[in-house]
Amino acid sequence: MPTEKRVTVTAIDEHIAIITDGIGPPQLQWPELRATGRGHIAVDDVERSDDWLQGLWRLNAAISATGQPLYGNLCYDDLQDDYLTRPPNPATRPKRDRLRAAIAGRTRLLEVGVNGGHSAYVALSANPNLSFYGVDICEHPYVRPAIELLKEQFPGRVSFSAGNSLRILPDLAKSAETFDAFHIDGAKHLYFKDILNCALLIDGDSGSLIVDDTQLRSVAWVWRTSIRYGLIRPDPENPPGPAGANDQSGSGILRALPQWKWRLMTRIHANFPPLVARARNRPGSK
Ligand SMILES: C[S@@+](CC[C@H](N)C(=O)[O-])C[C@H]1O[C@@H](n2cnc3c(N)ncnc32)[C@H](O)[C@@H]1O
Repeated sequence: MPTEKRVTVTAIDEHIAIITDGIGPPQLQWPELRATGRGHIAVDDVERSDDWLQGLWRLNAAISATGQPLYGNLCYDDLQDDYLTRPPNPATRPKRDRLRAAIAGRTRLLEVGVNGGHSAYVALSANPNLSFYGVDICEHPYVRPAIELLKEQFPGRVSFSAGNSLRILPDLAKSAETFDAFHIDGAKHLYFKDILNCALLIDGDSGSLIVDDTQLRSVAWVWRTSIRYGLIRPDPENPPGPAGANDQSGSGILRALPQWKWRLMTRIHANFPPLVARARNRPGSK
């Protein structure tokens, strides 16, 4: 449902206006904004709704109360110090929308790397049928308070395990936990193993997957290798962002693996990572 809020609208012509809401920087009007009266418009954009921003700022307050600096996430820059009541960074909006698109129609999201809970907040607020399972080593003291706040904001929809994803994901598989969506955003050097481990946690044949920071060389390699091995099919409808952009993420479908293939790939990766790298250059290899 569109939410309404008071804004100042300065018309440039009948199609474009500058909109100032007293929170974020002035914005050019989008086509979905409809004039409903003088200086009063319906806003379809969740990120400009009071409810959504108030919820985000409650989460920020829980983080800030720990007195610790906030590390990089889907809403704010690494170590940004004025995040408390700021709207999220417009530069990372495509990442947030990619996550929203990936979890649309899904019911169980597993996230590796929760940090301050911002991507969790984006996902949980976008899809009311989604439950969230977060995994984090909790190297930052604000992770647990952020999770507690999310549990309050989204009762019955938030679960969490503290610990290394390398241990927690296999434990989840042993307990027969399953998910239909995955967000890989923990330790970059563990991404390939995290993706492989998620392939044992899929509900059915496949689930949607977001891999953060595919603009980084090491992550781009993981993304390409996973595609080459048939682990991931990229989603052409949800592309990673323009080439050279700083804030990319890969969106695709993660396929369930038979145990034998999972063991083989895990062994190859553990013992001979360079072979995996070379495999992608073999003529005729897919
Ligand atoms: C980039 S932050 C995640 C940001 C978050 N997804 C967001 O956008 O709001 C990375 C997080 O991964 C966690 N992490 C690092 N290594 C990990 C591991 N081996 N297992 C689980 N979590 C890990 C860190 O503690 C940190 O909180």
